[in-house]
Amino acid sequence: MSAPLPNDDTRDRNLAESLGGTLLLRLSALMRTARTYDVSNQAFQRQMLEFIGVIRQLHEDEDEVALVVVGDYFYLNGVRIKTESSILGAYHSLMADFERRQVGGLRFLPGITEPEIERFFQVFLAADDPSMAERLPEMIAEASIQSILIVAPSDLDVEDLARELADQPQQTGERSRAKKTFWRAVSGAKKIVLRARQTGRPDLRHAKRVVQPIVDNIMKHEYSIVGLTALKDHDEYTYAHCVNVAVLSISMGQALGLPRQALADLGVAGLLHDLGKMSIPGDVLRKPGALSADEWVMMRRHPLEGAMMIARMPGISTVMLDAMRACLEHHMNYNRTGYPDVELEWGQATMSRIVAMADCFDAMTAHRAYCARPRSPFEGLQILLGPNRVNFDPAVLWALVRTVGLYPAGTVVQTASGAVVLALSPNPRDVTRPFCRVLVRADGTSPSEDTPELWEPMPEAEHVHRVLKPEEMQVQASGLLAA
Ligand SMILES: [Fe+2]
Ligand SMILES: [Fe+2]
Repeated sequence: MSAPLPNDDTRDRNLAESLGGTLLLRLSALMRTARTYDVSNQAFQRQMLEFIGVIRQLHEDEDEVALVVVGDYFYLNGVRIKTESSILGAYHSLMADFERRQVGGLRFLPGITEPEIERFFQVFLAADDPSMAERLPEMIAEASIQSILIVAPSDLDVEDLARELADQPQQTGERSRAKKTFWRAVSGAKKIVLRARQTGRPDLRHAKRVVQPIVDNIMKHEYSIVGLTALKDHDEYTYAHCVNVAVLSISMGQALGLPRQALADLGVAGLLHDLGKMSIPGDVLRKPGALSADEWVMMRRHPLEGAMMIARMPGISTVMLDAMRACLEHHMNYNRTGYPDVELEWGQATMSRIVAMADCFDAMTAHRAYCARPRSPFEGLQILLGPNRVNFDPAVLWALVRTVGLYPAGTVVQTASGAVVLALSPNPRDVTRPFCRVLVRADGTSPSEDTPELWEPMPEAEHVHRVLKPEEMQVQASGLLAA
């Protein structure tokens, strides 16, 4: 029994392109609902109808629907599902769900029924524990589920698999590791926030576990993960913002020479910095226009609310005190502006200064409902280094430049030879020469999308000639950053 792997059939390609992303979104929503509600609950039933609708639509053209994971990608009936930014959260959380259960893929056969889907989700969620994962195919059979089959990784055709991976020279070990670490951290951050909403306080041990792999990456001088913080317009940005601030803070801490333990504490502080936003109503947080005076009062309280939530934790530790302080001080500025209002002699902790800088850089390039377009990371950096520099500790500002480079990930530049390249991740050895993906070669030709050309990093013979404005770009930079 082998599941179809990548092929070139045009009809299949159209199908996977049009419905692949929707299938992942529906499956992930159903998985999420099943975690919170019983399958008999209306919320699950509603999601299930949406999901089965997509499966039936696919079955109109296909004998079966096979969703498999090869390397870092999902394939629907052999065609790769594009990692569009709108589905990134779903994409990676499902990938982690598959991985935890040692599942290579799922096959949905025609005639699939609703009771079967209900039973499938009960069994699938029960196999969350790695010791149960091995028994998953057996459990599916025992539950008389005939129209949903598990594809074991060993069932995927190994030769096809090898060929497919060989076609992807860009998936170096480091980048692949960084993506895993990053998306795992996003789902971890989400769990921490949702849990804290119920209990009124964050789980610090869980936060440490989320941060540890990021510290490991940065300590190994692997900076691809810093490049991933440039992804902004995806479905899980609220949680990714916490991870981005953790990643940037850790990396800045490393540039400043802080020891490992301090980096881990800094990461936890970054991850939890906006916890207090939980106390602000969602419509105020998402308000597209300017805030009213009352709403501003609420907004300005989130640093204090966050610190109070952390203070509710039992026991006391350095990391807890650091995180509390960073929560309280992350909107204070070096020039004594910002909030909350404190006595003049109050000194903002170094860690808080780092978190404040990381927060500002990440937030100023995020999409906002009331802006025609978000600032590019390059424009953000220009503002921070220009008019806004008085708000920040100069040493910390320097650490930001060391961390993101002069042309941060997501920036498209034209080089001296005339090539147009997208910055993917920073190069701490030379802030002017990031790791890049070539969009247009010097001779005017473009590499194909499936066989990308990378500069690891930009060669010595090249330098940046001009930074392109987002409106000059013909590319969806975020899709390429995520790939
Ligand atoms: Fe904040
Ligand atoms: Fe923030």
